[in-house]
Amino acid sequence: MTVPLVAPPPQRIPVHTPSGDYQVEIDAGASVRLAALLDAIGAPARRFLVSSPPIWRLHGERFQGVTSEPAILIPDGERHKRVSTVGRIYDALVRAGADRATTIVAVGGGVVGDTAGFAAATFLRGVPVVQVPTTLLAQVDSAIGGKVGVNHPLGKNLIGAFHQPLAVAIDPDLLATLPRREFRAGLYEVVKYGMIASPPLFDRLTSELPAVFKRDPALLAAVIGESCRIKASVVSADERETGPRRALNFGHTLGHALEALTQYKRFRHGEAVAYGMLAACELAVARGALDLPAREALRDLIARMGPLPAVADLSAADAVEAAGRDKKIVGGKLHFVLPTAIGTTMTVTDVTTDELLRAAEAIGLKG
Ligand SMILES: NC(=O)c1ccc[n+]([C@@H]2O[C@H](COP(=O)([O-])OP(=O)(O)OC[C@H]3O[C@@H](n4cnc5c(N)ncnc54)[C@H](O)[C@@H]3O)[C@@H](O)[C@H]2O)c1
Ligand SMILES: [Zn+2]
Repeated sequence: MTVPLVAPPPQRIPVHTPSGDYQVEIDAGASVRLAALLDAIGAPARRFLVSSPPIWRLHGERFQGVTSEPAILIPDGERHKRVSTVGRIYDALVRAGADRATTIVAVGGGVVGDTAGFAAATFLRGVPVVQVPTTLLAQVDSAIGGKVGVNHPLGKNLIGAFHQPLAVAIDPDLLATLPRREFRAGLYEVVKYGMIASPPLFDRLTSELPAVFKRDPALLAAVIGESCRIKASVVSADERETGPRRALNFGHTLGHALEALTQYKRFRHGEAVAYGMLAACELAVARGALDLPAREALRDLIARMGPLPAVADLSAADAVEAAGRDKKIVGGKLHFVLPTAIGTTMTVTDVTTDELLRAAEAIGLKG
């Protein structure tokens, strides 16, 4: 990959799934041209924008001309990703007399995208949704793949559906206002894509990290594009996450455990995944499945990206127990994604509690 000198051309990445084909469009300024994009893809004519007040204050103006309907604003923040917020979207749609010729346009991070996407999946048994992700995490991950849903008081993402979007419109310009910690949290998922599928992406992050942090538009478009291509190809091969899609869970077994142990308060999701990736590398090295230079390359990159929240006060045993409750356990077996080199992984089902414990301790949890 080389850095283009002029504004990069729009990238269009196809996603093929049994329940529908669509394009992920990555283009600086896409948000300003959204009305034309919706027309071009034949999005049903009554269009409702769903966003959150902070995002709307920053970027609402870009979406003038998309619709004459008032925007439906829902509170964001993880604790609002719940059924009652979906209810607020239904209320607004019903009051406006929305019918089946309706398109929902979700403008926001993963919280807005998952919540509005779930409303779209269920309102009138399903109306189309167009995802316009505004965080790096949403642009490289949550907006693509059709997983939508909300949390239950007793667990994350327990209520949901598969509802592929009609299109995903990614405007890297929207990231200019993203707080640095949110940006970094999304970047760990980009590191994940490098680790599971793309040595060039991993190398590029490593060699051009300062420019990535400066949010150089051409570089961002390239890095987001490569990430989306990987997500799109995995989703296309495996819509329901039975086989290849599992690689996307690299770093997520222990990552989810750390999030759960700290009541989803201490870590941004990507930060917990960073620890999870480090732990998976330790486990792989201990098994002889990964060589030391690869582990060092990941460790160095993550260290250069900035400080992660502390884990020294967390018990490795508690983390391993929480990992054992993860819903990625299929038929009583934990499917663990093991890195075998930068750019490749394998899924194993024979990881022992003891191995997990040692890996958790190796990344700093207390024994
Ligand atoms: N559906 C999927 O496949 C999938 C995949 C990964 C994660 N998720 C979900 O995504 C959610 C996390 O998403 P997130 O990390 O985007 O968090 P988020 O949606 O909570 O957004 C993070 C913060 O950034 C703010 N924000 C958003 N865009 C901004 C912008 N352009 N400028 C300034 N501030 C902005 C928001 O107001 C919010 O405060 C979780 O609920 C997770 O479960 C879903
Ligand atoms: Zn993730």
